[in-house]
Amino acid sequence: MTQNDTFKPCDLVIYGALGDLSKRKLLISLYRLEKHNLLESDTRIIGVDRLDETSDSFIEIAYKSLQAFLNNAIDEEIWQRFKTRLSYLKIDLTQAEQYKQLNAVVDAEKRVMVNYFAVAPFLFKNICQGLQSCGVLTPESRMVMEKPIGHDLKSSKEINDVVADVFNENQVYRIDHYLGKETVLNLLALRFANSLFYTSWKHETIDSIQITVGEDIGIEGRWDYFDKTGQLRDMLQNHLLQILTFVTMEPPANLSAEAIHMEKIKLLKALRPITYLNVEEKTVRGQYTAGYIQGKPVPGYLEEEGANTESTTESFVAIRVDIDNWRWSGVPIYMRTGKRMPNKRTEIVVNFRNLPHNIFRDSFQNLPANKLIIHLQPNEGVDVMMLNKIPGINGNIKLQQTKLDLSFSETFKKNRIFGGYEKLILEALRGNPTLFLSREEIEQAWTWVDSIQDAWKHNLMPPKPYPAGSWGPVASVALLARDGRAWEE
Ligand code: BG6
Repeated sequence: MTQNDTFKPCDLVIYGALGDLSKRKLLISLYRLEKHNLLESDTRIIGVDRLDETSDSFIEIAYKSLQAFLNNAIDEEIWQRFKTRLSYLKIDLTQAEQYKQLNAVVDAEKRVMVNYFAVAPFLFKNICQGLQSCGVLTPESRMVMEKPIGHDLKSSKEINDVVADVFNENQVYRIDHYLGKETVLNLLALRFANSLFYTSWKHETIDSIQITVGEDIGIEGRWDYFDKTGQLRDMLQNHLLQILTFVTMEPPANLSAEAIHMEKIKLLKALRPITYLNVEEKTVRGQYTAGYIQGKPVPGYLEEEGANTESTTESFVAIRVDIDNWRWSGVPIYMRTGKRMPNKRTEIVVNFRNLPHNIFRDSFQNLPANKLIIHLQPNEGVDVMMLNKIPGINGNIKLQQTKLDLSFSETFKKNRIFGGYEKLILEALRGNPTLFLSREEIEQAWTWVDSIQDAWKHNLMPPKPYPAGSWGPVASVALLARDGRAWEE
């Protein structure tokens, strides 16, 4: 699609407009879309919340949010344009009759109503019923929601059922913000637009794959949410499994939402279950203790503000995943994710197999295998580690491992790399469901993750301590060492 494509303008209604998600992410992303002329000129943004604000005071709140979270100066000209889109409605979301106010604002003739549920899931039922009773929805209306979509399969089904009472599946846009990240999307290009990778993406040529999503931050005052959730549900059930599906799914027939969803679901169904029988050998749970991040002391998980000092919630998880299908048989996928790691780093490492024979033995005893490293954040880019001859005419051929380095910021200097939210909000406004999650996909991911969570409970496996500022418990090194491998450092 090109920037010149025209789309129907929208009435974007944000429920929970005064909440954290709206202020930190949604309003900021919408302003950025405005800046780059990516919003239809007639699109309106209607903030809905229960506090006693007016459209004027909501505009002030939006301005303050931009000052706080934009990371660069507000362009006053853009702001003047942006603020004319904003208005506010005070609605107590639990009171069905109050939704009638929407009828006076939303214009289904001219615009598509996009309902962004930026509130806790327990309010979803109220919002759905409120919208239904005031009769403001049309078959064109959409709803957008994001994680947590439940904390297990059962609760996720409950949320999806509530939404399905009012919206058809094709009206529902479930966000995983990792799917809006440029480098995650680039996986499609890398795999399916390059014959080099397309032909070598299989167990015959690939030895193993690693996916690391490390964050240096702790739980950032979110104790209540995080302690009930843990790293497995907060990060692995969604972001890491999404990366995994993009790396390992079969080639979709085309780029349609159906084709991609179908391949992702097939892949998720092929994940070998982890149960109480193999959980100890396949997973490591960790919890950070006090330590140092970039030289600064930080408290341990149990010393965080508001902490329950008995908590056994994991802030780190490492897993060996096996995929039982033709392409990946025998290729382990190691995934790890944790809070309070030494730095923020998201990367995928594809380790190719060793060559069967070494004719350079005189100068290089063990030829290291090729490696493809995809950096998702920070410093988006792709590296290929390969061997080259060191120039020189004296003696044997000498080899050196070198890096073919494609840095996005260097190569695409003129192109701005947008954040995940900007991309996904834009796609929701344009009605393109490709980068959103289907119900079946989420439920399949929960089925696999629930089995791990149950196994941990069954085996009473407490998390292993690791000092903040390290890459997790020693046991996570052992997870790979047992297979004769090591994490990419
Ligand atoms: C969120 C998690 O989904 O993703 C947070 O709830 C986490 O715990 C965040 O910090 C990480 O996102 P990103 O884009 O900063 O890698």
